[in-house]
Amino acid sequence: MVHRGAPCESSSRASYSGPGYRASSGCAFPSSRYRYVITYQSCGSSRRGRRLMRQVIGDQLGDFAAIYDEDVEVVSVTRPQARTCEALAERLVRSRQVPQLRWVQSADDPVAPASELPSTIDADVRSALLDQIAEASEMLGELMDCERVGVRLETLSAPMCPRFHADHVPCRMLITLSGVGTEWIPNSDVDWAVFADRGTTAPPIQANRQIQRFTTGHWSLLKGGAWNDGFDGVVHRSPHGVGERLLLSLDPVY
Ligand SMILES: [Fe+2]
Repeated sequence: MVHRGAPCESSSRASYSGPGYRASSGCAFPSSRYRYVITYQSCGSSRRGRRLMRQVIGDQLGDFAAIYDEDVEVVSVTRPQARTCEALAERLVRSRQVPQLRWVQSADDPVAPASELPSTIDADVRSALLDQIAEASEMLGELMDCERVGVRLETLSAPMCPRFHADHVPCRMLITLSGVGTEWIPNSDVDWAVFADRGTTAPPIQANRQIQRFTTGHWSLLKGGAWNDGFDGVVHRSPHGVGERLLLSLDPVY
C-alpha cells in the first residue's frame, strides 16, 4: 500500500481493523490488503469550513471500503477486464442497440440483469455486460448494506448532465464502459460562488486547479449530497463534445 496525506478516519458505519472490511450490518466485504493508492489531495481553501477530501484509487473490490473514511470523497477501482469490456462496449455503441435502460433489481440476484438486457444484443457483448452489472450490483449491495440497486445503462451522444452538479443520493457508482469518463472537481477545489450561480456556464473551479476525469473502465464510487450532513456531494458532469459514450451507473436503493 502507498499511503500519503492525512491519516484515515473511520466513520461509525464501518471501520478498518486490518485487512478486509465488515459493514455495520455484519456482512463481510471482499478482503483487501489496503493496496489503495492515494493519488490526490487538494490543498484548496476551505470556505464554509470544508475539510480536505481525498480520492482513493485501488485495484481490489475491498478498496471500496475506503468510502467510509470521512475524508474520502471518491474511490475508483480498476478492473481486470476493463480493456476487453471497452472493446465490446464500443461494438455495442456502434450497433445502437442500447439507447437507455433503467431498472431496479435485487443487489444479489445475478440473473436479474438478463431479463432487462435485450436478447438481440451480440452474445459476447451481452455476456460481458451481464457479468459486469451482476458483480457491481452485488458489491454495492454488500458495501452499502442495501437489498436493492438501481441500474442505468445508457448510450449518450450529448451530455446527460451538462452542468457541474452534485446528486442528492448517498452515493453513486459510475462506470464509463466506452468513451470518455465523467468529469469531476475535488470538493475543496470547487468555487462555490460560481457553483451556486445558475446564470453562468463557467466550470465552478478555483484558479489554478484542474478538472479531473474518471478513467474509462474504472468503477468509480462518488459520495453524493445525501451521504451525511457535512458533505455536499462530489461535483461532476458529463464531458462535453467527446462523442458517444456507454455509461453504467448504479445507486443503492433502500
Ligand atoms: Fe450526476
